[in-house]
Amino acid sequence: MRLISSVNEMMAWAKEQRRVGHTIGLVPTMGYLHEGHLTLMRRAKENCEKVVVSIFVNPLQFGAGEDYEEYPRDLTRDSQLADSAGVDVIFAPAVKDMYPKGYSSFVEVEQVSDHLCGAARPGHFRGVTTVVSKLFNIVRPDIAFFGQKDAQQLAIIRRMVEDLNMGIAIVGVPIVREADGLALSSRNVYLSPEERKAALVLSQSLKKAKELIAEGEGEAERIRQEIIKVIEAEPLANIDYVQIVDNRFIQPVERLEGECLIALAVRFGKTRLIDNLVMEVSPNDSHDA
Ligand code: PAF
Repeated sequence: MRLISSVNEMMAWAKEQRRVGHTIGLVPTMGYLHEGHLTLMRRAKENCEKVVVSIFVNPLQFGAGEDYEEYPRDLTRDSQLADSAGVDVIFAPAVKDMYPKGYSSFVEVEQVSDHLCGAARPGHFRGVTTVVSKLFNIVRPDIAFFGQKDAQQLAIIRRMVEDLNMGIAIVGVPIVREADGLALSSRNVYLSPEERKAALVLSQSLKKAKELIAEGEGEAERIRQEIIKVIEAEPLANIDYVQIVDNRFIQPVERLEGECLIALAVRFGKTRLIDNLVMEVSPNDSHDA
């Protein structure tokens, strides 16, 4: 496995791979890799001849007072993990090379970013779509792989690729969870043992929502209130948002129909965690209670 930090070297390597006819898969990450990232890498390996993993803690997607400085970083450990997953290149550029002095270009996807984390973290998705566009231009992958845990990010990237004719296939990979249900996240390392235990209300509340939908509940607000009840029963949990939207345009729905996204953002102490559930609901599946 090769470790590349220079943008020009990355572009040259990718150009050579394309010249010899290799397909390239890209897994964009901010590092501190976990099993969720490794699942993305394995999917990429199954589908592409060459796999690039980018590791870049992107300052543009962190707001003032967020955890940019504290975000966990360990390139040595990440390199070993990526190597074990069969990755061909880790691309780990420096901030000054991605955003040199005078940098002035940004990519913004409207509407899909109006709600959920788009509303809770102003400017966050502008940072994400800008860096992902740059990574796409540098690597020019055939396929890029993203986790379903960041469901709104995935919807925004799909929209951007379609709107801007980027010609890259986007693959969303299901959430990977610990045995007790906690969704894997690089930010889980911030949790104290008590907060780690409390954070189980995220998956528990989604399980409750799934049960209600299976019983025929189709009204979004009723499901939302039940989720809130489960989360609020945990004293260490502070809700940022609980919303139910359609999974493509990320707009609130009144009734569950088609592909719906139930999305949560909850704070445990200083740590903000997100989780979600995507449900395909046909009109016949739900009825008024
Ligand atoms: O999901 C992430 O880790 C980041 O938002 C991404 C896509 C790597 C962009 O910095």
